[in-house]
Amino acid sequence: MKLSNTPLYTASQIQQRVASLATQLSQDYQGREVVALIVLKGGLHFGSDLIRNLTIPVAVDFIRAKSYDGAASTGIVEFLIPPSLPLNGKHVVILEDILDTGLTARAILERVQADRPASVAICSLFDKPARRKVDLEGQYIGFELDDHFVVGYGMDYEEQYRELPDVYVLEPSD
Ligand code: XMP
Ligand code: MG
Repeated sequence: MKLSNTPLYTASQIQQRVASLATQLSQDYQGREVVALIVLKGGLHFGSDLIRNLTIPVAVDFIRAKSYDGAASTGIVEFLIPPSLPLNGKHVVILEDILDTGLTARAILERVQADRPASVAICSLFDKPARRKVDLEGQYIGFELDDHFVVGYGMDYEEQYRELPDVYVLEPSD
């Protein structure tokens, strides 16, 4: 596999979109007690850039989910890092890199809801709605993608490319 010759989204396009998502969140969550829950590892850059653009105070926490999706895509998810803050009564905004089948996000949502937060929303930089296997929508979406595998800006292929500031499509090498 190799990277596309040119980025699908450049760092500056991403920064513009992240800033506008942050503006929207800052308006919608004004006056509420918010926990920004960054989903590791893919949400590393997105989460960090997004919270720096907010104009409201938030608490920050992390969650790391590992999915076991063999051929049958079971949707069984283990939490390698569970949230460390009490989420009870808080307005939780889940910050994710990408919504694909939706299985991981659904499991995270269920895990968060078990703590009885005041509300939960999903904010994902990328969304591939055509790939969805469960009925789940993000409330805040950066960009909709066709069925491409993308890397960079936190997203990996076998742990490579997370450090890239731009997002590329991963293509078969010829
Ligand atoms: P599901 O299918 O549970 O998966 O919604 C979400 C997780 O799968 C990974 N994923 C990707 N990672 N490029 C990546 O680097 C992609 O195009 C891609 N699609 C899915 C990612 O970890 C995401 O959180
Ligand atoms: Mg990955």
